[in-house]
Amino acid sequence: MTNRINQLFHEKFASSAQHYERASTLFPNGVTHDARFLQPFPFYATRSEGSKKYDAEGNAAIDYWVGHGAMLLGHSHPAVVEAVQKQMPLGTHPGACHELELEWADWVRKLVPSAEMMRFTNSGTEATLMALRVARIVSDKSKVIKFAGNFHGWHDNLIPAAEPPHGAGYEVPGVTDGVFGDLVIVPPNDLAAVEAAIDEHDPSCVFLEGNGSRWGVVPVRKEFLQGLRELTKRKNVIFVLDEVITGFRVDKHSFQGVCDVVPDMTTLAKVLAGGLPGGCLSGRADLMQALAYNNPLGKKMKHPGTYNANPLSAAAGIAALEIVATNEPSQHSNAQAAKLRKRLNDVFADKSAKWVAYGDFSAIKIHADYDGPRPDSDDFIPFDNDYLKLDVGFDKTLSHAFRCALLLGGVDWMGWAGSTSLAHSDEDIDVTVAAFADAIDLLREDGLIE
Ligand SMILES: Cc1ncc(COP(=O)(O)O)c(C=O)c1O
Repeated sequence: MTNRINQLFHEKFASSAQHYERASTLFPNGVTHDARFLQPFPFYATRSEGSKKYDAEGNAAIDYWVGHGAMLLGHSHPAVVEAVQKQMPLGTHPGACHELELEWADWVRKLVPSAEMMRFTNSGTEATLMALRVARIVSDKSKVIKFAGNFHGWHDNLIPAAEPPHGAGYEVPGVTDGVFGDLVIVPPNDLAAVEAAIDEHDPSCVFLEGNGSRWGVVPVRKEFLQGLRELTKRKNVIFVLDEVITGFRVDKHSFQGVCDVVPDMTTLAKVLAGGLPGGCLSGRADLMQALAYNNPLGKKMKHPGTYNANPLSAAAGIAALEIVATNEPSQHSNAQAAKLRKRLNDVFADKSAKWVAYGDFSAIKIHADYDGPRPDSDDFIPFDNDYLKLDVGFDKTLSHAFRCALLLGGVDWMGWAGSTSLAHSDEDIDVTVAAFADAIDLLREDGLIE
């Protein structure tokens, strides 16, 4: 960590520094999620409301983590708070079927084109795990195709190749060769590679992450999604669209609605449960029958799970999806992100920083090693969407200092990416743009960028 930023960060966030000392004895790296790791120490939130979170000293940070994507409505939306408060005294876990799970499922079916039937899970990771097992049961095949850089949660089957560096050596410590051997990794946005992989490996299914690697680092366009749907149908391979992050966020009908594509199965989480834990696998009724007793396949996938369709998550999810259905949350978040991408690119040009902002919908990606043409439209993708240039890791010292510098300016940015919500105002955008300009100055002062 570097001098000026380090000194200012310690001065401003004293309570977080104290918490982190204690955390370091409790958690590896002092954190409970890898992405929250920040040096010299992370920001400790005591409260979050609307577009902001606050620490114990009352420092406000405009939040671009948006609950890892879950808080499309902003933090503590009154309708969600009220729904959870109403349910709390009625029971947090009846260990029984309940009406809220029906209402929650009705919303999913109403909004997501492919959702004929579903099962609720506790997370997106569980949902993609379930999708793969269902595909294997139905197809009686074991291999799975995924795209390099796509993230589908942290279970053994799909975690390899979830991030750069791309190329050889994707094995992940703890994942056995047998499990890894069932995974076929293809380059993003390459239909010919998918077709060749299907012909060679005869897979159970193909997984694609919503609009591309880790919330669109390597964006996927409508034409590709439509091509993949046509290809998998022609080859009779199950197509799973992972909409854990794009679901309900990019549009009330999710990415599949925007692209007019109906996948065989769809995984959902995050916005689905209104900011509480929850996920779901949804899809074609004949495939979902793999979860039913006495199904025509003669093989059932076991699906217990203590907290499946938890009533608090269901209550929050129903309240959130009711608002999602107006489409205002998506439209507002998408518009604010587009404004921010444009304004950030203006700042980078003004300051001659070798950075570029890009992204789709409510995502804003920063590439920190860019010297090419400046974006001429919001559709612009740097490096002509070459994933080997686009999906790269940046220097760790710079990455940590960048986040700290932004926090000093009142902005909590999620690594090199951020997302907006219904709560992000024009004033938030102004503050964020100013924070970026100051952060660039500080990073230069500390000798971390040219
Ligand atoms: C596309 C995608 N799939 C799956 C997951 C895993 O979801 P969870 O963190 O709820 O397990 C994520 C989480 O970020 C995701 O973005």
